[in-house]
Amino acid sequence: EAGLRRQLIDIHEAATQYFEAQLKSPEAARAREYLSGRGVTPETITKFRIGYAPDDFNDMRDRLKPHFNEEAMRASGLFSAKEQADGTHGQLYARFRKRITFPIANEQGKTIAFTARALDSQDEKGRDIAKYMNSPETPLYTKGQVLFNLDKAKADMRNHDFALLVEGQMDCISVYMAGVHNVLATSGTAFTEMQVRLLSRFTKRVVVNFDPDTAGANAAEKSIALLTEEDFEVKVVALEGGLDPDRFVREQGIQAYLAALRGAKRHSDYLIDRARQLFPARTADAKVKALNFLLPHIRRMPNRIHRDEFAADAAQK
Ligand code: CTP
Ligand code: MN
Ligand code: MN
Ligand code: MN
Ligand code: MN
Repeated sequence: EAGLRRQLIDIHEAATQYFEAQLKSPEAARAREYLSGRGVTPETITKFRIGYAPDDFNDMRDRLKPHFNEEAMRASGLFSAKEQADGTHGQLYARFRKRITFPIANEQGKTIAFTARALDSQDEKGRDIAKYMNSPETPLYTKGQVLFNLDKAKADMRNHDFALLVEGQMDCISVYMAGVHNVLATSGTAFTEMQVRLLSRFTKRVVVNFDPDTAGANAAEKSIALLTEEDFEVKVVALEGGLDPDRFVREQGIQAYLAALRGAKRHSDYLIDRARQLFPARTADAKVKALNFLLPHIRRMPNRIHRDEFAADAAQK
């Protein structure tokens, strides 16, 4: 198994280099335009090892094949294979095609998976396609155990004793390149207990900045619950104008973003405001609903003093 893991790491490094080289090819002109249109500079491309998966089923397989065994190539998750009528697998072909690739690294900075963004929202035949495609789970990669950018963020997380948590790769990259280095992305999936444990090795203070939409608000509540249960200090940023962190930094500038970070609310204040938003009526019924929304959050805080303070604030407001 150690041998397979080693091979999988090597395949992912080879794939990272392959995608990086492809982004420089003539075929990738549109991908480069797309990236520069989103404010992604050559420096950012190099730093995050952003690449391009060409519109080709076979090329990457043919290039990697001489260097790796078939079993490892299959296990990497970078290829798919059609199942034949007799139950055997056919030829491997590239999983990611015509997409911008972002390596997902482990704590040591080694690529262990990819997420890949489509340039268009529809294919040639006008069918909707997934905006992002991700590597499947493999012996190297378990989705809920990884945080995007951990390798680059860890030093600053310790130095500043907090982590900034965002949803998307592009959010993470924009905020990082604007100078906030202790930023991590959940990659749009539910935050997990494993990720909380991972974070707690670096800091016990988290600022949550998810997208200002329903999905983002729900993800924020879930993350607050998991983090406060482990006695983290949690703050929440709500950005104006319905912008996600990536768009906010590009449209309003880094100074405005830093001001928003400084203005992050304590999680208790954020949740109380949220309860008032969800149940705005001044009736007894609305007050009961608001308290029922808040009580589980209050109860799970392990620290008695913090709990009492939250309860008093909730009752008063
Ligand atoms: N995501 C995914 N598959 C999708 C949509 C989203 O895996 N079909 C993940 C990606 O990691 C994405 C994150 O969820 O970065 C947040 O989703 P969303 O807010 O919709 O995307 P953005 O990060 O804003 O993507 P972009 O700015 O590139 O449009
Ligand atoms: Mn720094
Ligand atoms: Mn979102
Ligand atoms: Mn978003
Ligand atoms: Mn976005």
